[in-house]
Amino acid sequence: MSRPSSIATSTGMMLVSLVLVSLVVVANGSNFYQDFDITWGDDRAKILDHGELLALSLDKVSGSGFQSKNEYLFGEISMQLKLVPGNSAGTVTAYYLSSQGPTHDEIDFEFLGNLSGEPYILHTNVFTQGKGNREQQFYLWFDPTVEFHAYSILWNPINIIFSVDGTPIRLFKNLESSGVAFPNSQAMKLYCSLWDADDWATRGGLVKTDWTQAPFITSFRNFSANACVWSSGTSSCSSSAASSNDSWMSQGLGTTGQERLTWVRNNYMIYDYCKDTKRFAQGLPTECSLA
Ligand SMILES: *[C@@H]1O[C@H](CO)[C@@H](O)[C@H](O)[C@H]1NC(C)=O
Ligand SMILES: *[C@@H]1O[C@H](CO)[C@@H](O)[C@H](O)[C@H]1NC(C)=O
Ligand SMILES: *[C@@H]1O[C@H](CO)[C@@H](O)[C@H](O)[C@H]1NC(C)=O
Repeated sequence: MSRPSSIATSTGMMLVSLVLVSLVVVANGSNFYQDFDITWGDDRAKILDHGELLALSLDKVSGSGFQSKNEYLFGEISMQLKLVPGNSAGTVTAYYLSSQGPTHDEIDFEFLGNLSGEPYILHTNVFTQGKGNREQQFYLWFDPTVEFHAYSILWNPINIIFSVDGTPIRLFKNLESSGVAFPNSQAMKLYCSLWDADDWATRGGLVKTDWTQAPFITSFRNFSANACVWSSGTSSCSSSAASSNDSWMSQGLGTTGQERLTWVRNNYMIYDYCKDTKRFAQGLPTECSLA
């Protein structure tokens, strides 16, 4: 199931040199009061521990969610999540970057719950110019409900890399030169939510949410954004002040990253749209033959 190893394209390198001299906003030692707004679910979303922890809950009436105050145009975004334990079948925890509008871009992590002892599915997708259909799904190599684990999105002009505890699980390269749209002009906010999706989430909708187990709770902590903040049409990275913290702007997988990615694909990947010739009977998407 492994793909040929990848090398940053010269196009990507050129793009990067344009933005390399930049001031990057670093948000570390996160505080949920400062960085996020709770957007729905009323008191089902709770900020705890002086802003260091955020808990979302889901019951029969509603789920809940929050979003970043900032919008980003490129960044290295990371958060630690501890997912709904026990019987979490039917529940979905979403953690994604998205812009607005019909031609929006989106970079998704979604965690599909399961019966006690059965594996979660980590579902990923990339939307460009309003078009998604680029699902890849994985099992995890640990139980994501016992402890916090870090889920990260590295988004720069060269590529998008999804990582779990620092291990890359998915690469989406900038293949604009081959006519594949890449998210590089629309700023995105970070959104997190917990909701009921028992019509499709677990074993394709066969296993329903057991409401006697409610409320279901997912916890979030340790948000960090090494990122270009977009505000009033300007990027914090367009300033001429140099920063030594923007190596993420030109970061690709590297040899070790490629090896780790291959390990994940060989052992934990359960669905890849690029292999789904039934679904794409007219031909696989362009990026599938180029990745
Ligand atoms: C739930 O467990 C079943 C049985 O092990 C498995 O087929 C499925 O992929 C798991 N995950 C989800 C989200 O359905
Ligand atoms: C918080 O995340 C940063 C990276 O974003 C990591 O270096 C640090 O170890 C994490 N802290 C904890 C307590 O896990
Ligand atoms: C780079 O980041 C580190 C840790 O976040 C910080 O201590 C340091 O001041 C930053 N350097 C610059 C030049 O921004």
